[in-house]
Amino acid sequence: MLSGLVFVLSSLFFSTLAAPTARDALTVNTPIGTAHGVLDGSAVRFAVKYASAERWAQSTVASEWTFPNNASDPAAEPLACPSPILDDSQFSEDCLSMILYVPPTFNPSAQMPVFMWIHGGSFIIGSATDAGLDGSNLALATNSIVAVIQYRLGGFGFLAPDGTTNLAVRDVMNALKFLQQNVASFGGNPAQVTIAGQSSGATMVRALLAVPEAEPLFKQAILQSDPMDYGFLSPSTHQTLQSFFNTLIPCSTSDTSCLSSLDTLDILNAYMFTFQMAPTLDASAGAFSPLRPVRDGSLLTTALDLTSSPFPSQSKSIIVSTVLSEATPAIYGNFTSPLPESQFNQAVQDTFGLPRTNTIIGSTFYKASPPTNGDQASTLDARVQLESLGTDYLWKCSSWSFAREWVAAGGKAFVGMYVLGASYPGNTAVTSQCAQPGVVCHQDDIEIVFGTVDNPSAAQKTLVKEMQARYKGFLASGDVNAGTSPSVERWDAAGSVDVKAKVLGETGLVDVGSCDPGFWGKQVEYDYQVYGI
Ligand SMILES: *[C@@H]1O[C@H](CO)[C@@H](O)[C@H](O)[C@H]1NC(C)=O
Ligand SMILES: *[C@@H]1O[C@H](CO)[C@@H](O)[C@H](O)[C@H]1NC(C)=O
Repeated sequence: MLSGLVFVLSSLFFSTLAAPTARDALTVNTPIGTAHGVLDGSAVRFAVKYASAERWAQSTVASEWTFPNNASDPAAEPLACPSPILDDSQFSEDCLSMILYVPPTFNPSAQMPVFMWIHGGSFIIGSATDAGLDGSNLALATNSIVAVIQYRLGGFGFLAPDGTTNLAVRDVMNALKFLQQNVASFGGNPAQVTIAGQSSGATMVRALLAVPEAEPLFKQAILQSDPMDYGFLSPSTHQTLQSFFNTLIPCSTSDTSCLSSLDTLDILNAYMFTFQMAPTLDASAGAFSPLRPVRDGSLLTTALDLTSSPFPSQSKSIIVSTVLSEATPAIYGNFTSPLPESQFNQAVQDTFGLPRTNTIIGSTFYKASPPTNGDQASTLDARVQLESLGTDYLWKCSSWSFAREWVAAGGKAFVGMYVLGASYPGNTAVTSQCAQPGVVCHQDDIEIVFGTVDNPSAAQKTLVKEMQARYKGFLASGDVNAGTSPSVERWDAAGSVDVKAKVLGETGLVDVGSCDPGFWGKQVEYDYQVYGI
């Protein structure tokens, strides 16, 4: 197969020189058929359907190599899974696809590590073709195979009318099984798979860490900006959302022919209404990703948080990162002008209720501050405090709490926080605050990791290089320092109390502040503690 690939490559380079062709396909033989790819940047891209599923049934791993969307063109990109922000010509329920990015000169015995990326989007939006997710640069920089996957979203992945939960989690497991079966044909090492995701993609990673059945399918994990405050969904909360959703579906839950004849858009509207109503139906669902993996006791067997006693013992290595200004889109998108300081307490109480509000406002951590964008510098702007509070409890401190538990249970963890990012497309439309210097909004780490920043500054180039070198070392051997140049600061592993969170984008460690284990998670409980999820 190596000679085949070299042959195709050389003929491709030759034909490029001699007479440019419209499309240059590469061919790899896999156990389930011939894969055809196209050059993408300097890597080769293979789009493939890794599984298929009847609506609301468990997916099954592909037994033949086929392009997404029944396409015959190797350059065709997968349609997204149904999504409320796309036109229905851009999605299909037949969406269990992945895109593999493979370094072009691989040797089949290269045993390259595999990096599987799970996109974010609150489990209702997002796809393998989202902005910034072209894996070519990352595949080359890390000498690994990058697989960017899709999985069923919203009601299709989480609200089967018969009450079956976690279909989307099983989709992702099938993507891993597909890689186990086929990635060696591309020079990948199935024993060296790292799963990674951002936001709800990281929540999915955490879900897989809670699935004993998934344990052999991957070796390590990377969680970027997981809103860990929420925890998984409890079975009873899932049941509440499921029952509400079922009332919106004009079929009996066992009438499969009625259910399969429903219009995709009607289902989408029904689960988006459920999404919107979820915090009212059950406060523990939360507002940001109420349709999410369920700790059902059979697939996900542990909460994997501070309420787990004991926290199950661990042997995998993980990276847990957040960004400086996670909550900026939520806070500044909601409050579009400075918020008088007098409204801070009420805003906190709206979110946290009593008694948590009293502890929060009585603490030294969230002080009245002037605006950070130069507006009306003489007044105080409660948005600054709300942003810091939101970032701390939803992402930063809850991630640190998780990392501490992970390490105490025997795993290894590297904790970091980005203070430099690349503004993710769409963020500045939510709020211009995301364009302010020094602000690193939720998602602004994605293009740094993928090396897909448009017109990067010198500092961004340096950070891309550093992070890709760290990922390269981590993917190959679990060591985030192995691939970096000697001038790059060491990133120490977290301890079970001091997580030694590294500043990513500058040097030094992140101030512990309110992420002290005595504050968040103890004096002030996370939502998963308050609601007993
Ligand atoms: C591909 O073909 C199958 C069988 O005809 C169909 O069920 C499926 O919806 C098609 N997929 C797409 C994306 O059109
Ligand atoms: C905006 O802020 C108000 C007041 O705190 C709150 O009730 C509402 O839920 C917020 N909306 C969003 C989308 O965060």
